[in-house]
Amino acid sequence: KYDKQYYLPPTLSYDWVKKETLEKTPIWCSVDLRDGNQALPIPMNLEEKLEMFQLLVDIGFKEIEVAFPGASDTEFKLLRTLIDHHMIPDDVTIMVITQAREHIIRRTFEAIQGAPKAIVHLYNSTSEVQRRQVFKKSQEEVKQIALDGAVLVKELADEVEGDIHFQYSPESFPGTEVEYALDICNSVLDIWKPTAGHKAIINIPTTVEYAMPHIYASQIEYIHKNLAYRDSVILSIHPHNDRGCGVSDAEFGVLAGAERVEGTLFGIGERTGNVDLITLAMNMYSQGYNPALNFGNLEAIRKEYEGLTRITVPDRQPYSGDLVFTAFSGSHQDAISKGMKYRKENNVKKWEVPYIPVDPIDLGRNYQTDVIRINSQSGKGGIGYILETNYGIKLPYKMNEAMGYVTKKVSDETHRELSSEEIYHVFKEHYVDF
Ligand code: KIV
Ligand code: ZN
Repeated sequence: KYDKQYYLPPTLSYDWVKKETLEKTPIWCSVDLRDGNQALPIPMNLEEKLEMFQLLVDIGFKEIEVAFPGASDTEFKLLRTLIDHHMIPDDVTIMVITQAREHIIRRTFEAIQGAPKAIVHLYNSTSEVQRRQVFKKSQEEVKQIALDGAVLVKELADEVEGDIHFQYSPESFPGTEVEYALDICNSVLDIWKPTAGHKAIINIPTTVEYAMPHIYASQIEYIHKNLAYRDSVILSIHPHNDRGCGVSDAEFGVLAGAERVEGTLFGIGERTGNVDLITLAMNMYSQGYNPALNFGNLEAIRKEYEGLTRITVPDRQPYSGDLVFTAFSGSHQDAISKGMKYRKENNVKKWEVPYIPVDPIDLGRNYQTDVIRINSQSGKGGIGYILETNYGIKLPYKMNEAMGYVTKKVSDETHRELSSEEIYHVFKEHYVDF
């Protein structure tokens, strides 16, 4: 159904541009309950977090960062509830984040006691600005914070029964010298000694997105090529969206060698948010690849999400916004309506309707109310489409044209969008007794 044709210039010299974007499904890790929650004016309470966890599991996430147990009692309680009530499915791995500070690491391990499997995510901030302004520490001293943390995490993991995996993030990576960040990551790996059967994760965040996507991608490529224990490490990326390029960062990051992507639903998260995993997954889907996440009922997911986070998804949010499949303007409506007709009459399987990049049905939307809506900018194509699809009325060409003018005029004079019922009413008023 989705087998998009790309028209590349014949002189293209960069081989990697020819690759499809995200052709291999990365490991998705949802950080909604941690990075997402941390950015909410009113954070989720325990019940809401449990419901969010279930929603993420239902969508198909196999890795979920559930909490920062050292940060609040609610976070700690969430873990205890999930573990004590055996609420974590066997094929789902929870992740907990901890700063590289002794008391927080110890508290984190208390929170995950009894978990059959977990990823402990260790981080410390490494940027030049933070070393100079915030910590007043040298490169060596900041590296030592990471190494001390890595040693303690390993020691405590050896003491618990569960299967504990490790993740390290050099926080504030965009302001960190790349060779230095790589050196910290490799030194942390020297302590953890991952194996192919028990991999560690190195996660490279754009904590604040300062750089253009190709810069981030070249940093990821450098790390991918120079990371120690490469076959025993999963290279992960964690894009934020300050420049509005989180999705590009992620797609270029994967092309550059990353195997795992952390992000959130609808891109909720600190400041302008984390990368929106729905957009990434649906970008893959619309190119014919299986994202292994189920957004077939995105409307319902969005409603539940809005209720839990008290954040409204914008009308123009890719794939999930109210208006993203809607055309108001006459020429677009005309092309869509002809495309839909062509599709039906020729029994076309491939999705190639003009102006609509993916079939709204695949996201649980519908053609009747989502695609063509009428206001004063609409045209005869759209109005004919509404009458035919919603009421089975097929107008002759001239009549359809006249009906177009009449309807537009009503919308212009009342200065509002017209519902399908109102269009039908206009039609009856002008033509039925005719
Ligand atoms: O954005 C960030 O740097 C983070 C880290 C803690 C991974 O969320
Ligand atoms: Zn983050």
